[in-house]
Amino acid sequence: MSRKTIAITGVAGFIGSNLADRLLAEGYRVIGIDNLAYGVREQVPSGVEFHETDIRGPELRRLFEGVDAVFHLAAKNCIADCQDDPLETSDINVTGTVNTFEAARRAGVGKLIYAESSALYEGSSQFPTPESDVAPESFYAASKLAGMAFAQAYRRFCGLRPTALRYFCGFGPRPAYRRSIPPLMRAFAIKLLRGERPTIYGTGEKRRDFVYVDDVNDFHVRCLDDARTDDRTFNLGSGSNHSVREIYDEIAAQIGTSIEPIYAPDLAGEAQQNLADISAARELGWSPHTDLRTGLRRSIEFVRRFVSPIAN
Ligand SMILES: NC(=O)c1ccc[n+]([C@@H]2O[C@H](COP(=O)([O-])OP(=O)(O)OC[C@H]3O[C@@H](n4cnc5c(N)ncnc54)[C@H](O)[C@@H]3O)[C@@H](O)[C@H]2O)c1
Repeated sequence: MSRKTIAITGVAGFIGSNLADRLLAEGYRVIGIDNLAYGVREQVPSGVEFHETDIRGPELRRLFEGVDAVFHLAAKNCIADCQDDPLETSDINVTGTVNTFEAARRAGVGKLIYAESSALYEGSSQFPTPESDVAPESFYAASKLAGMAFAQAYRRFCGLRPTALRYFCGFGPRPAYRRSIPPLMRAFAIKLLRGERPTIYGTGEKRRDFVYVDDVNDFHVRCLDDARTDDRTFNLGSGSNHSVREIYDEIAAQIGTSIEPIYAPDLAGEAQQNLADISAARELGWSPHTDLRTGLRRSIEFVRRFVSPIAN
């Protein structure tokens, strides 16, 4: 039997590169697409057939010919960057997403899995938050809502049966590189390893549901073979949350430093809390199994070995 071919948009980013590693290890052929706006080429695992191209361009259709499944992960996804440039946010996250859906439809791709976000729950006051409680506030979340509306129209009129994944705060090796505000674990680890004071935006009391990238990949792989994921939306989180200060203290303890952070005014568009209701994913037999401490140890090790000497 010939091995399945999987295409990943955003393959040079955090989730895409980790997913590519996992799919290659499982024997899939992987086609990777990224314009390197935020990801880096060095992060794309060898073995991926890499195409440096934009998801808004006409090449996608050709690249998707003969592909069995598409993971659409490419996006502009730093909330602060999206607040600064709503127009580009819409261009990449809405137009780029529609172009990806359209290319998948025209190429006859059998399975489409795409990234939404827990940001869709920014205005929710229900914790843990179920998939039904959509309440976007930021420009980033608005762009994800538009992608969701297009997915529904593709379901209605074109017979696509996409799987929508709402990641909470993914963490692990290869955290996103080129954002004005890097993911907080990476930002804390880099500064603390250098003996510098990291910045906490807000009081440190914001709470986040962190999910380790290997656990997310378990669900990704499951999507490829389980038809029950067709035409459905899933929260992917851990089902528990931690304050930013708790995360800071754990990273500082693992690095062995007592450096105190600098506190700065909170960032616009940031929810005070997120917490995933993961019962829908659990019902399919998935559960996250990497505890925060273990995941942080692996993430810090990655920063220590590959990032700390070169990054800002
Ligand atoms: N990481 C998380 O915790 C998280 C949480 C919620 C949602 N998401 C969503 O999951 C997806 C992946 O997130 P990530 O953390 O890996 O992000 P990332 O920024 O690390 O990766 C995104 C990749 O998309 C690429 N890209 C951006 N615009 C492009 C374009 N026009 N054409 C081609 N490539 C383009 C970037 O260069 C980058 O490599 C995104 O859609 C994001 O919104 C992620």
